[in-house]
Amino acid sequence: MVLRSYDAARDREAVHRIWREVGWVEKGKEERMDRYVGCGRALVAEVAGAAESLVTSVPGSLRYLDEELPFSAITGVTTSRVARQQGLATRLTALALAADAAEGALVSGLGMFEQGFYDRLGFGTGGYEHWLAVDPADIRVPVRHRVPRRLPREEWRAAHAARLARRRGHGGVNLIPPEVTESEMTAGDDDFGLGYADAPGGELTHGFWCRVKDSESGPYSIEWMAYRTREQLLELLALLHSLGDQVRLIEVREPPGILLQDLIARPLQRRQATEKSRFENKMTALAYWQMRICDLPACLARTGMPCGEVRFNLKLTDPVERLLDTDAPWRGVGGDYLVGLGRISGAERGHDPTLPTLAASVGAFTRLWLGVRPAAGLAATDHLTGPPGLLEALDGALRIPDPHPDWDF
Ligand SMILES: CC(C)(COP(=O)(O)OP(=O)(O)OC[C@H]1O[C@@H](n2cnc3c(N)ncnc32)[C@H](O)[C@@H]1OP(=O)(O)O)[C@@H](O)C(=O)NCCC(=O)NCCS
Repeated sequence: MVLRSYDAARDREAVHRIWREVGWVEKGKEERMDRYVGCGRALVAEVAGAAESLVTSVPGSLRYLDEELPFSAITGVTTSRVARQQGLATRLTALALAADAAEGALVSGLGMFEQGFYDRLGFGTGGYEHWLAVDPADIRVPVRHRVPRRLPREEWRAAHAARLARRRGHGGVNLIPPEVTESEMTAGDDDFGLGYADAPGGELTHGFWCRVKDSESGPYSIEWMAYRTREQLLELLALLHSLGDQVRLIEVREPPGILLQDLIARPLQRRQATEKSRFENKMTALAYWQMRICDLPACLARTGMPCGEVRFNLKLTDPVERLLDTDAPWRGVGGDYLVGLGRISGAERGHDPTLPTLAASVGAFTRLWLGVRPAAGLAATDHLTGPPGLLEALDGALRIPDPHPDWDF
């Protein structure tokens, strides 16, 4: 099995074939794919001399409370039809993760196609994201929108800059290469964006990009929405409402910290009345993103928490280790640590027999640290065990808001 870096001159046609086979690129849109693949790390696995599996990742930034942590996003994992179930995607993803971690990513994340696959690489599932499908005519906001400007797809760099400058809460992710936004804005011929350029220098301050499934009456789906202030969010929602004379359904992910149903007229009546129809109004909750810590001491050193102090031994297991060579520069974070969580947190290798011990997989501990679920809940459903007193102390001490990446990838 040959696993190596992508080489455009040699592999371009082969990776187009992989993406065509998995349905990720249409004929005629290969150049857009080339820029996407070229904007970060790309690794391929060869079978009989041709690239048959492709994994891509890009650098990013994760907001943890008020801190920014170097982040790696696994943005594409694909294997062609002839090379499935040979372990190629698993091995390549482990290699991409290891290379990103060795270069300084403290946390890595991805969007999963199914639960379980990436757990084998140490990823833990994030919290629910809520997707609202609503008749835009039913959106009620107490403001009027101004006339927006169109966002031409050619202005993807400006749109990307607006996304990077958007308001972000705990768990908020930024992906650095602008080609990520280009790829989203050039996917569908009918897709469109609207926004406002209120910054002193004329930069885009708030806007959204809309994927169109049926131009005339919808559904439309909001791919991303960026805003810096509460007023700007309300203006964007008022703008969505203005489409309601024509469009019967818009799908939008609930913005972090907002209960979107507050702004919907008669949500229960609409839900019942449209049940099982083409324009069904509903709220869907799904956990589909995953993250994992890549450097435990560095993560904890930079992420003090507004909580009581808890000290314990941590026995951390990391399944990625078995997928990497023994001499690889990064082999996961498994091992025994002394951990303190509090205003000043930290982790160092070691064991103190006077302290209680928490045993956890890296995925489960990442979920605890990020605030996805409390220790007692994770002890019931994930690989995390400890004496009841320690679990109670962790539940009492950790008060971390719900993490939301606010960027699907
Ligand atoms: C998903 C995909 C990348 C897997 O590629 P692959 O090279 O066949 O994957 P691997 O061989 O490394 O892994 C397959 C193994 O994972 C296991 N697996 C699959 N889904 C799993 C799940 N949800 N939980 C646990 N294990 C899972 C398989 O049973 C198989 O196990 P085995 O090796 O013991 O037989 C490939 O099917 C694909 O390209 N799909 C379409 C694109 C896509 O959805 N990509 C994922 C984007 S997040």
